[in-house]
Amino acid sequence: MTGELSPIDKAKFVAAKRACDYVEDGMRVGLGTGSTAAWMVRCLGELVRDDGLNIVGVPTSSRTADLARQVGINVTSLDEARWLDVTIDGADEYDGNLNLIKGGGGALLQEKIVATASDQMVVIADISKKVETLGAFPLPIEIIPFGWQTTKALVEETLIGLDVLGRTTTLRMNGDAAFVTDEGNYILDLHLHRIANPRQMSLVINQIPGVVENGLFIDICDAVVIGYGSGKVEV
Ligand code: 5RP
Repeated sequence: MTGELSPIDKAKFVAAKRACDYVEDGMRVGLGTGSTAAWMVRCLGELVRDDGLNIVGVPTSSRTADLARQVGINVTSLDEARWLDVTIDGADEYDGNLNLIKGGGGALLQEKIVATASDQMVVIADISKKVETLGAFPLPIEIIPFGWQTTKALVEETLIGLDVLGRTTTLRMNGDAAFVTDEGNYILDLHLHRIANPRQMSLVINQIPGVVENGLFIDICDAVVIGYGSGKVEV
């Protein structure tokens, strides 16, 4: 499955592989989205195929659903599963309080719903994702397409009252068109550079009409499995 990996891929792979230890027979498992989560889905697929691991997966995006089916994982919806034992997902940043920025892959809405509906959320990341203070990675927020320019202006106005270092917002693009999420929404990326109070930021942003959800995961993550290019793993 791995061949010769670059250090970054090796770091993602070893974190993903170790996180599979959280998965036991009979569990309902939330399957994250992104390149690190894709390693985890492949590792789980191998356990299903070779070791007879019996799990049901709830994917957090159409991309992950396709991959999970390809590798032989039984897939169902969150409505069917209702509550999950564990969700394993990547992150764009995590801090010392296990608060996260997610949504680099545009799947933050399903990811947050699925992680919140889980007994445990385990994040898998290479060490480059660790930060002192969140915000160097642009904060993605999912907004509805209707009136998006007005929503963007309202978000920018709201940012004036918040303790951040930058206030530029950009509509995420896919070539010449707006990037569209699995839910048919747009993503605004907020270039804040430093988020002094992520909890306040999350609450305030979600109050704005037109905003569906933001990529700050506060008090949702229970553990981070960190991979290194050397092959070392830490939890
Ligand atoms: C997708 C996400 C991803 O988990 C996040 O972007 C990390 O991705 P990668 O593992 O490719 O670095 O939140 O919406």
